[in-house]
Amino acid sequence: MVTLDYLVQYAKQTGFIFQGSEIYGGLANTWDYGPLGVLLKNNIKQAWFKKFVRQGPNVVGLDSSILLNTEVWKASGHIGGFSDPLIENKTSNQRYRADKLILEHDPTQKPDGWTLEQMYQYIVDNKIKDPVSGTTDWLPIRKFNMMFKTFQGVVEDTASEVYLRPETAQGIFINFKNLVRTTRKKIPFGVGQIGKSFRNEITPGNFIFRTREFEQMELEFFCKPGTELEWFNFWLAYMQKFLTDLGIRPEYLRAEPHAKEALSHYSNATTDIEFQYPWGFDELWGLASRTSFDLTQHQNLSKEDMSYLDPETNERYIPYVVEPAVGVERLLLIFLLNGLEEEQLGEGDSRQLLKIHPALAPYKAAILPLVKKEHAGKANEIYDMLRENFDVVYDETQNIGKRYRRQDAIGTPFCITVDHQTMEDNTVTLRFRDSMEQIRLSVDELENFIRKAVKF
Ligand code: GAP
Repeated sequence: MVTLDYLVQYAKQTGFIFQGSEIYGGLANTWDYGPLGVLLKNNIKQAWFKKFVRQGPNVVGLDSSILLNTEVWKASGHIGGFSDPLIENKTSNQRYRADKLILEHDPTQKPDGWTLEQMYQYIVDNKIKDPVSGTTDWLPIRKFNMMFKTFQGVVEDTASEVYLRPETAQGIFINFKNLVRTTRKKIPFGVGQIGKSFRNEITPGNFIFRTREFEQMELEFFCKPGTELEWFNFWLAYMQKFLTDLGIRPEYLRAEPHAKEALSHYSNATTDIEFQYPWGFDELWGLASRTSFDLTQHQNLSKEDMSYLDPETNERYIPYVVEPAVGVERLLLIFLLNGLEEEQLGEGDSRQLLKIHPALAPYKAAILPLVKKEHAGKANEIYDMLRENFDVVYDETQNIGKRYRRQDAIGTPFCITVDHQTMEDNTVTLRFRDSMEQIRLSVDELENFIRKAVKF
C-alpha cells in the first residue's frame, strides 16, 4: 500500500483533492474535490444509493435539512452528550483527545467505556507525555461538545442559535411519521440519506479521514423489537459484500464488535468495519443497533406519537432501528489506498496504476486519436457519442504511450484509440487498464461494451 504522503501528493497532482483555501495559506483540515474527486465521490454515492436504497430490502430515500430545530438535538442527546474527552497540556497549550492519547500509548486499552477520571488517572500513572512539549503537566480532562453552533436570522441571541447537524440520522427519525404515511411502507423498512454533517473534531487529520465537514451515507432500518439482531447481521454482511464487490481486498477489512461496556447509551450492539489504513486498522463504517431510543426520545419531547401499528398482528410498538452509517470521504480514501500502486513492468519500467472498479472510475474511457491531424475528427465524434451516457475524456496531447500511462494513473478502465484502420472499417483499438491487453472493437459496439463493464 502507498504511504499517506504519497497519496496526498498524488491526489493533488492528478486533480482528485486539493488543499482547501490554498491560495490563502489553507484552512486546516479542509479539502476541495477536483474534477476527478467529484466524479469519484458521485460514483461512490450512486453505488451506495443503488445497493442500499434502490435495491435494499424495502428502502426509500430522504433529503432532510442540515439546520434543524434545536429541540431535535436535545432529544437526541447531542446537546447534553455529544462530546469528546479533551485534555490540555499546560506547557504547550495543545489539546488532545484523551482516549486517543491512551490508545497511542497502548493500543490494547479500551478507554471508550472509561470515565473522565479513569482516563486522567491512566495518563498520569503511565506518565504519558505531550508529543509537543514532552512534559506530563496535564490539566484535568473536560468534555468538549463537538457541534458547530451558528445563528439563524439577523439577531445573534440564544433564541436564534442553531446547530449544523453532526449526523444525518436525526433528520430521518423526525420524519418517521411522514415517511410511514406517504410511503405506506410496512415494517421492516428502511430510509437512506446522503448529506453533509459537521463536527468540531478536536483532532482532525490523516488527510480526509477525519475532517470537520464531511458527507455521510446513513440508513435507518426500522424493524420489530426482537428482530434487530437478525437485521444487524444481515446489514453487516451486506456492507462487507458491498466493499468486496467493489474490489476492496478482504485482508484490508475486519469487523470489530464494541465491547458491551463501551456501547453508546442507545445501543444494544455496535460493530465497526475497520480498514487497514497506512497508520493501522481504524474505523471505516459503523453499524449500530439503536433500539427504540431515538423515536422514543422524539416522542417524549415533541409529544408526537411515534408508535407503529402492525396491520397484521394489530400490535402497537415503537420500532427498533439498525443503522449502517459511513462517510463518503472515508470510502473515497480507501478506494484510492486499495487501488493505487507503482506497478513494476520489468526491465526497469514501471507505471502508476489506480485499480478501481469501473463503476467507480472517474472516467469510464479515454478517447485518443493516434495522429491528431488525421484522427481527431473521428475521435471527437466517438467522444460526443459516449459522453451522452458516460463520463469520458478526450486526450490528443503527447505520444500514445504517455497518454495510456496518464489514464492508468487515474483509473480509466479503457482507452479507445482511433487509428488508420478506424477510417477503413469503423473499428477502434480498445486497451484494458489492468492487463494492458488490446482488442479491436466496432465503434457501434462501444456503448454496450462500456455499459456492461461499468455495471455494479
Ligand atoms: N448516526 C450515527 C453516526 O453518525 P458515527 O460513527 O459517528 O455514527 C458514522 O459516524 C460514519 O461517519 C463513520 O463511520 C465515518 O465513516 C463517518 N465519519 C464520522 N465522523 C467523521 C469525520 N469527522 N470525518 C469523516 N468522516 C466521519
